Parts: sequence; structure tokens; C-alpha cells
Amino acid sequence: MNKIKTLINKKQIKKRIKTIAKEIDKDFKDEQIIIICVLKGSFYFVNDIIRKLKNKNILIDFVKIKSYSNTSSTNNIDFQLDTSFNLKNKNIIIIDDILDTGNTLYFLTNHIKKMGPKKIKTCVLLNKQARRKKEINADYVGFEIDNNFVVGYGLDYEEKYRQLQYIAILKK
Ligand code: IMP
Ligand code: MG
Repeated sequence: MNKIKTLINKKQIKKRIKTIAKEIDKDFKDEQIIIICVLKGSFYFVNDIIRKLKNKNILIDFVKIKSYSNTSSTNNIDFQLDTSFNLKNKNIIIIDDILDTGNTLYFLTNHIKKMGPKKIKTCVLLNKQARRKKEINADYVGFEIDNNFVVGYGLDYEEKYRQLQYIAILKK
């Protein structure tokens, strides 16, 4: 196993998630929202955030996209699972673990826009601005981080470390 160093602890994540949930509640009130969870990385984040929402008019769906092999981002989008909902005239929030080059969210927002949603918002736990290749920003951001490879709280390195309850920098 590689060496890891805590970057964002469990308490910090919990506190930030509460704030983001409040922002979402303020923006959507009790309007229905379809939450799109981008697998695999955002399963922890989605799980924690939806339980903090006061709005109970929430539907959840999953998409699966792979844009990463080991630590170098590739431009290849491997779209493995699409949404099963009809998103026409719906409020959508796409939730991903991290916004890095932007390839994933850029692809996914364009894909979902074609389905004619009413409103489409994006939410990421982490933003790694330094590596952005596509012009895309998330509407809700948990934490801004420097250009380090991070693991934990859903994020992996070669499928490992997802189960950590905190976010850590992976040392190589
Ligand atoms: P993007 O398409 O380059 O923005 O990358 C988004 C995806 O790459 C995320 O959903 C993650 O799965 C993965 N990713 C990007 N940076 C990291 C990282 O530091 N650790 C683990 N996964 C990452
Ligand atoms: Mg991912």
C-alpha cells in the first residue's frame, strides 16, 4: 500500500456537507430534484448529502463513467451506465466526487442537457482547479484542493482506499 496523509478529516466533511445541503434546500425549496450520482466515486458523498436535505421530494439515479486509469486523466470517456429516468422538465443535480480536468462533468452535463431538463446543477465534493481542461465549474463545491492525487471517502487509487472516512493525499 502507498503512504497516505489526511487532507480533509471526517468532521470537516460532515460540516461542509451540512452547508451544501442548506444551499440546495434554499435554491430548490420543496421542488422535486433528481439527483444523479456519478459512480463509483460519489456514492459516499451522495449518501451523506441527501440525508441532510430538508426537501423530501428527491429521486435518485446512478450513472457510471470512467475517465481515469491510475493517476493520469485520459480524454477517453467510458460511459458505462446511463440514467433510466425521463429527465424532461425535471430539476437535476449531478453529483460527482471531484472536478479535475472537467472531461467527465462536461460530457455528462451536455448529455443530460439533450434530454431537456428544466434546471441542471452540478455538485462536487472536491475541485482541483489547476488541472482543468474544459470550461466548466460546479454550482456547489465542497472543498478547493491543490494539485495532489487524493483518495478516500469514495475516491480510489486502482480501486483501493474508497472506504476511508476522510480524504487523504496519496504519496507515491
Ligand atoms: P475529470 O473528468 O478529469 O474531471 O475527472 C473526474 C474523475 O476522475 C472523478 O470523478 C474521479 O473519479 C477521477 N479523479 C480525478 N482526480 C482524482 C483524484 O485525485 N483521486 C481519485 N480520483 C480522481
Ligand atoms: Mg468518478
